[in-house]
Amino acid sequence: MWFKRMTLEVWFDDYQYEVKYDIGESAVKFLTVSDLNIDLQPVQLRYGYHLGQPRLRALIAEEYPGLKPEDIAVTSGAAEANFAVVAAIVNPGDHVIVEHPNYPSLYDVPRSLGCDVSLLTLRFEDQFRPDLDRLERMVTPKTKLISFTHPNNPTGSMMAEEDLHRLVEFVEEKGIYLLFDETYREMDFNHTLPPAATLSDRVISISTMSKSYGLPGIRIGWAATRSKEIIDAILAIREQVTICNNALGEVLAIHMLERKDEFLRQAQAHIKRNKRIVSEWMERQEHFEWVYPEAGVVSFPRFKEGVSVDPEHFYRLLVEKYKTFAVPGRCFEMDNRHFRLGFGATPQEIETGLQNVNKALDELLQ
Ligand SMILES: Cc1ncc(COP(=O)(O)O)c(C=O)c1O
Repeated sequence: MWFKRMTLEVWFDDYQYEVKYDIGESAVKFLTVSDLNIDLQPVQLRYGYHLGQPRLRALIAEEYPGLKPEDIAVTSGAAEANFAVVAAIVNPGDHVIVEHPNYPSLYDVPRSLGCDVSLLTLRFEDQFRPDLDRLERMVTPKTKLISFTHPNNPTGSMMAEEDLHRLVEFVEEKGIYLLFDETYREMDFNHTLPPAATLSDRVISISTMSKSYGLPGIRIGWAATRSKEIIDAILAIREQVTICNNALGEVLAIHMLERKDEFLRQAQAHIKRNKRIVSEWMERQEHFEWVYPEAGVVSFPRFKEGVSVDPEHFYRLLVEKYKTFAVPGRCFEMDNRHFRLGFGATPQEIETGLQNVNKALDELLQ
């Protein structure tokens, strides 16, 4: 078989409905239909425009100065956009470089399509920021695609704006495509980076309603690019897989994007409060160390040297006995002494979840 299951999604599928305290998720707290206060009765449940409803594409295009609605392909989540963009660009035997750790499909898809994938692994010592000198040395004449994600999942790191410009110049000079996953972009309250697709037609930005808007269940994401070739290729690929988007999801996405400023203001206050709870906990405890997450709702702490605990045992005790969900580092092909600690849930959920981390650890250290 070409594709194998994703370790990260296996962990979610096994436990996400079994837990009470979710300190592993990478989205703000999920919304319900009633939170949106919308009448869905008139929605026609017919096939939709293959690249997404014109109104939705227009609203998304507003986020990318210089891009038009025809430069947007709306997809079933960022997951489909990532798949289609990679499939549009690579052939078996091509070389692809992926920033790592990352959402695994960024490297699993090109691997499954027969590419030779090199990982540009971010280092704790570099504050999880990418080293572009190292990246440039990894490029070969066969490199077709480079993938980056910032704000990064799972580390919460940002790259500097000058580095993004350097990267874009580099891919243009080499004739490589850059996939820039901006799934967490609305949770960078310092507006560190411009939307990458606005910088060059060699760049494809990917984003979604799943994370900053708390709507993963509507399965609406998108790719934005000035490359008509890529938009046409996405269309050809999705017509074999999903054909068009979910009609209800499109209507809910339009509704949210028309009110996004107000929603994001609230989300920002919520995230700041939660981040303070996690930071204060990090300062109080003595067994973990972290790189302070610059943006997004996730971080990637690790057990300090000398804490003699089997990490897998710890994550399972936490989730099975204490009903508290964190994501083991192995789900990102990283050292399992790291784990993803998210802070999108309610403050109460996070506080109890962190107390449970202490309890589970005390139990293992006794
Ligand atoms: C970086 C990144 N890209 C894409 C996705 C997939 O998101 P979606 O729900 O929009 O398919 C995720 C989900 O965790 C992610 O972290």
